[in-house]
Amino acid sequence: MVQFSTAQTITVQNGKIIVPDHPIIPFLEGDGVGPEVMRSAQQVVDAAVAKAYNGNRSIEWKEVLAGQKAEKLTGTTLPEETLNTFKTCHVGLKGPLNTSVGEGARSLNVALRKELDLYANFRPTKYYAPAPSPLLHPERVDVVLFRENTEDVYSGIEFAAGTDGARALLEFFRTQSPENYARIRFPETSALGLKPVSVEGSQRIVRSAIEHALKAKRKSVSLLHKGNIMKFTEGGFMNWGYDVAEKEFSVETYSMRQHKTLSAEKGEEAAAEALKIAKAAGKVIVKDMIVDAAFERSIAHPEDMDVLVTTNLNGDYLSDALAALVGGLGIAPGANINYLTGDAIFEAVHGTAPDIAGKDLANPCSLILSSVLMLRYMGWTEAADLVENSLSQTFAGRNVTPDFASQMDNAVSCSTTQFTALLLQRI
Ligand code: NAI
Repeated sequence: MVQFSTAQTITVQNGKIIVPDHPIIPFLEGDGVGPEVMRSAQQVVDAAVAKAYNGNRSIEWKEVLAGQKAEKLTGTTLPEETLNTFKTCHVGLKGPLNTSVGEGARSLNVALRKELDLYANFRPTKYYAPAPSPLLHPERVDVVLFRENTEDVYSGIEFAAGTDGARALLEFFRTQSPENYARIRFPETSALGLKPVSVEGSQRIVRSAIEHALKAKRKSVSLLHKGNIMKFTEGGFMNWGYDVAEKEFSVETYSMRQHKTLSAEKGEEAAAEALKIAKAAGKVIVKDMIVDAAFERSIAHPEDMDVLVTTNLNGDYLSDALAALVGGLGIAPGANINYLTGDAIFEAVHGTAPDIAGKDLANPCSLILSSVLMLRYMGWTEAADLVENSLSQTFAGRNVTPDFASQMDNAVSCSTTQFTALLLQRI
């Protein structure tokens, strides 16, 4: 266990974080553009906190290592101390990390999420005008996606074609489950993978999404799945999600699964009336949607999408597609959270951008907006608002980094440092 003065470490009681006025926040600057965007985000956060609380609050940043810098200094890419510090301090900020492409290489990002059991990937998507967008009305995008972070095909249980593992599994199917064996088109040359999706794993993420919707006064939670094809994994996710809504939030939500039953039993008119009453009472509508339709809907009618919750791979694809609607990965914030332990790592969602690293060209908005999520998570909303407003105003003056400027008319292209200086001025 890493030791700090307890007065300055964020603590957790009954899953709720308790934030002192001068918390120690570990930061991991990451590889590539990581140090540049981290410097920018920390300067902006420090200025906003000082301004919002007249110097009575501040963050004590503590650097932790991972990735190339860690390897150089400690001989390992993910030192135990880094994990321990995140565990001790509960809330941290992280830049992007390189994932080497060597065989069997462990993704540091996945390792961090696994070690801390950060089961919820929280990805809000909102438009800051006049960021470049392929949509006619990007201002209609205001979506919050909860992606399950610990299960699904990301469990990494795979067997390469022709190996002993694949052969043993195929033999099991051939002898024990011939109907399944018959479904494999080319058994001799197939690689195989497992997709575990559990009741607990599904329900804890759906619970988090519903709790967020209630707290943020959102209108609906959509359970996104591919249950039409994968009945037990994706279909299970949907059904277990509805169970949570109906059993644990029966007063605050209205389940569209129950709505269908009501419609079948009492008729469409009675069901429509019940839905109308629930909406008027401000209940959160819990519905489901097949994930490919959700992609279409998000692009064609983003105003229909509110809080979304889905399995790991669906969420991976959809979160980046949503980011593209409002300017891309350079501005998309994210966090990985365990709402039960309070542990949370806020991170830039883009990668290390090796093509522009060290050139003062990186867009720091993804990490800055992730820091805004962190401030809100800590309850420091005044500081979060200051950062968000300064960013909106700077954008409104058409001051942007080159990734945005190249896609906009009449934009003023700023380096990372210049853009950061403008944000600091506004704060
Ligand atoms: P990338 O996100 O690093 O780059 C893709 C493109 O977006 C590049 O043209 C890059 O210049 C641009 N870009 C990314 N961030 C930007 C920013 N802040 N400002 C302006 N332009 C930006 O993705 P890529 O090239 O696939 O991956 C590079 C490395 O990053 C890989 O090792 C990958 O594993 C890692 N990675 C790490 C992530 C994380 O730590 N969360 C997430 C994604 C990738």
